[in-house]
Amino acid sequence: MKINKAIFPVAGLGTRFLPATKAQPKEMLPVVDKPLIQYAVEEAYAAGIRQMIFVNGRNKRAIPDHFDTAYELEAELEAAGKKDLLELVHSIKPDDMECIYIRQPKALGLGHAVLCAQCVVVNEPFAVLLADDLMVGEPAILKQMVERFADWQASIIAVQEVPSDQTRRYGMVAGTPVNDRMMDMTHIVEKPAPEDAPSRLGVAGRYILTPGIFKEIAALPRGVGGEIQLTDGIAALMRREKVFAFRYEGRRYDCGSKEGFLQANVELALMHPQLGPEFRNYLKTLAL
Ligand code: UTP
Repeated sequence: MKINKAIFPVAGLGTRFLPATKAQPKEMLPVVDKPLIQYAVEEAYAAGIRQMIFVNGRNKRAIPDHFDTAYELEAELEAAGKKDLLELVHSIKPDDMECIYIRQPKALGLGHAVLCAQCVVVNEPFAVLLADDLMVGEPAILKQMVERFADWQASIIAVQEVPSDQTRRYGMVAGTPVNDRMMDMTHIVEKPAPEDAPSRLGVAGRYILTPGIFKEIAALPRGVGGEIQLTDGIAALMRREKVFAFRYEGRRYDCGSKEGFLQANVELALMHPQLGPEFRNYLKTLAL
């Protein structure tokens, strides 16, 4: 089985980023010059995925608009002979990429958002990307996971080591190593206190899941924070199927938090081929 579909849950309220997210989705916040959602879609595309499923809520018109054709803008750029910019605008949605939009009527939690996409995914394995986790890696993090999936044909959850005083921010996992990067997962628990965390490995916002997860989520009661938690669905799935944790190679920026968002902007600006050198000189002048 191959991964053809990716779900982007973008229906959260983004309360940690108010007031910026009062009237716009946090996934449209730009890091340097691109909105977060575009980084995530490009990562899925780089992993060979062509069907992008967005689980949208209120106030999220900007996301379909971003991936839609902008006739007026394109006509203006064409008339002005701005070929580079025209190509840039076209490249946001390559011709072989399909975008599908589903509404999550109420922000009942990440698990519920994933369940909303069941009618499109039906019976095949799929990826989930949380765009507010901006991931930088070579190869792209989801591509690393899709390559592992080709060998293992089972659900794979991206994990990373997190400081022990931050376990309340993550789903925390534990398992038995099967090779240098993969673990046969034995535990997963949502946002535990440090003393209750099964290890220091926290879930990052990239998942490959088998369709068996839908039945598990549908049977869940509300979990931590009164939300239907994807973590609880994965815990239930683990009782029926193998689920692996994967320590990816790369860097994650938690752009759902203001600190992570600022770090991403600074570091990606430094990496930017045109902006980088001058921005570096500017930072030096700050003499902090
Ligand atoms: P978060 O908990 O980080 O997002 O959910 P949030 O609820 O928008 O943010 P805060 O905590 O209030 O600041 C992780 C991802 O799941 C999506 C969010 O959009 C985000 O991409 N999500 C969350 C949904 O799509 N629906 C939900 O009901 C909850």
